[in-house]
Amino acid sequence: MRKFCSLLLVFISPVLMAVASLPVYLDDSKPIEERIEDALSRMTLEEKIAMCHAQSKFSTPGCPRLGIPEIWMSDGPHGVRMEFVWDDWEHAGWTNDSCTAYPALTCLAATFNPELSYLYGKALGEEARFRKKDIILGPGVNIYRTPLSGRNFEYMGEDPFLSSRMVVPYIQGVQQNGVAACMKHFVLNNQEKWRDVINVEVSDRALYEIYLPAFKAGVTEGNIWAVMGSYNKYKHEYCSHNDLLINKILKADWGFDGVLVTDWGSAHDTEQAARNGLDIEMGTWTNGLTWGISSAYDNYYMAQPFLKKIQSGELPESLLDEKIRRILRLGYRTNMNKSRPLGCKLTPEHTEISRKVAEEGIVLLKNQKNFFPIEKGRYKKIAVIGENAIKKLTQGGGSSELKPQKEITPLQGMIEKYGEEHILFSQGYASGPPDYSRELPSGLDADSLVVAAVEIAKEADVVLFFGGLNKNFQQDCEGDDRINMDLPYGQNELIEKILEVNKNTGIIIISGNAVSMPWLNRINGLIQSWYLGSQAGKATAGVISGRVNPSGKLPFSIPVKLEDNSAHYFGQMSYPGDSINQYYMDDIFVGYRWHDRKKIKPQFPFGYGLSYTTFHYEKLSTDKKNYHPEESIKVSFMISNEGEKAGAEIVQIYMTQKNPSVERPVKELKGFDKIYLQPGEKNK
Ligand code: GLC
Repeated sequence: MRKFCSLLLVFISPVLMAVASLPVYLDDSKPIEERIEDALSRMTLEEKIAMCHAQSKFSTPGCPRLGIPEIWMSDGPHGVRMEFVWDDWEHAGWTNDSCTAYPALTCLAATFNPELSYLYGKALGEEARFRKKDIILGPGVNIYRTPLSGRNFEYMGEDPFLSSRMVVPYIQGVQQNGVAACMKHFVLNNQEKWRDVINVEVSDRALYEIYLPAFKAGVTEGNIWAVMGSYNKYKHEYCSHNDLLINKILKADWGFDGVLVTDWGSAHDTEQAARNGLDIEMGTWTNGLTWGISSAYDNYYMAQPFLKKIQSGELPESLLDEKIRRILRLGYRTNMNKSRPLGCKLTPEHTEISRKVAEEGIVLLKNQKNFFPIEKGRYKKIAVIGENAIKKLTQGGGSSELKPQKEITPLQGMIEKYGEEHILFSQGYASGPPDYSRELPSGLDADSLVVAAVEIAKEADVVLFFGGLNKNFQQDCEGDDRINMDLPYGQNELIEKILEVNKNTGIIIISGNAVSMPWLNRINGLIQSWYLGSQAGKATAGVISGRVNPSGKLPFSIPVKLEDNSAHYFGQMSYPGDSINQYYMDDIFVGYRWHDRKKIKPQFPFGYGLSYTTFHYEKLSTDKKNYHPEESIKVSFMISNEGEKAGAEIVQIYMTQKNPSVERPVKELKGFDKIYLQPGEKNK
């Protein structure tokens, strides 16, 4: 036995020695900051330069010699995007990269449910981790300023407080998987038109009170590990290397210790990138004239040009070291964190979260003569009309496109709920396949589609029109904006023809933006739905049938007409600008703040949404009559569910200031809570 033990000791000791002499940067018993300094001290100049820019469309190199892994990134805010070929915007065609598609963030915001936002982020982070992604390129929190912006569906609406309360738990959920969330697009990317060049001028007050708060909350409360700079300029400096925004506000004032990543192609200058806080350069179109040249990564602004400026002494190496510290810190929080979870994907829990967010985000806007819910058996013939009942809306839209393992369409949901024998379907209108830069022809004859739709409307007991926008060019799509607020593809004309033959018609708008509603007074039921992802049909049929009592509230105002919106009141230089400059003349008065100030009645206001039950408020009181804005205030009230259905009410607290010393909005959202009540139940 003794011999065996001594032999064992002889064997173990080299291993013990090896463990004892692990380099600090590899020793996870040491504090991260010590490991960062040790790794940094071992890296050559060339190795450090390599880590600051892309090696492929969605990855940066680590430091192979030191065993520091690559960093892999993926879009997007609503699900883990499909894989791409190494060097280009081309799907790789894998067969194991499908995902659970979660609802668009506008829908998540409409739930007004931070706990649900945490579960959303956690589920998304699990899938990203399982797919070996170290950064998920989301959430988007740019403020909804105009109903024309092509990417509002990726963001959380018009109010900075709502966006702030909803983005923090999303980030925490994602990052608990050892995956970095990446808030975007920092900042003032509130339209897609001319996004890569437009210089935005905005007052300091509007910047700090409207456009920055959600980003600040993500950093100071959510402890986010990555932020993406936007394409546009602010004060004539590109936001992705903007001294005031990044060095002063993001990093110094807010204490952001993560990495600032460019948007893809948003870097434009080596010296500015080096000095103004850019840490990782992605997607640069190196010759600046055409799309990227394959494997031209050495030509990136933060590649050879940066190396040469350091070697010549034009730029101090300390600028590079600060970037590497942040990149290594990201690594130690993600792919060098040995205790991070393994992740999972396409689980029943993921499906459940996707469905729950969809169900809680749908907004009931109009419900006269008890149009909704349509209980099973109430009608024999239900006409489902509209291309949005069948279109796969997880596709298109730009970088937030997804390849879901499952996508239940509204038509499938309706058939599953009511039975095929009770559903009459007609497409009604047609759009082309989603494309980033043009509207492709649908190949179908518009007139024939209308005739067929009107025919089934005639014979149906009730008509449900599924319309809205889609992810095609100049719809809810990245890269450009809508050209007006109207429903596209002749939908309004089709709705008029349907109403001529059947007054018992309800409309379900599927969109990420407000649309004009010329038919509103002639219908009894209206639902604002969203890009709901994998469980779209299940959730939609759930609300229509009454299985789900709708509780969603609008995260943005719906104006009667475009000119009623703040961005469009001041003419072209306010929106969209002149392709060089743009001035946010509406200042702090965005969304309901504008409607209140100008006393312009919206079609439907921010925070509005109906229920299948009724809630009654009473005994409202506050613990202070007057209070200083920096103080907290306690609001008490009794709320009761006076209907026959269980339901959830989103209590919203708006504040106003009497005789303010500076101009203030009439009211501002300062608190909300979602309260679930059974029929007859009271809650204090
Ligand atoms: C796009 C988008 C950004 C996305 C990135 C990578 O241009 O603006 O949101 O994450 O490129 O696809």
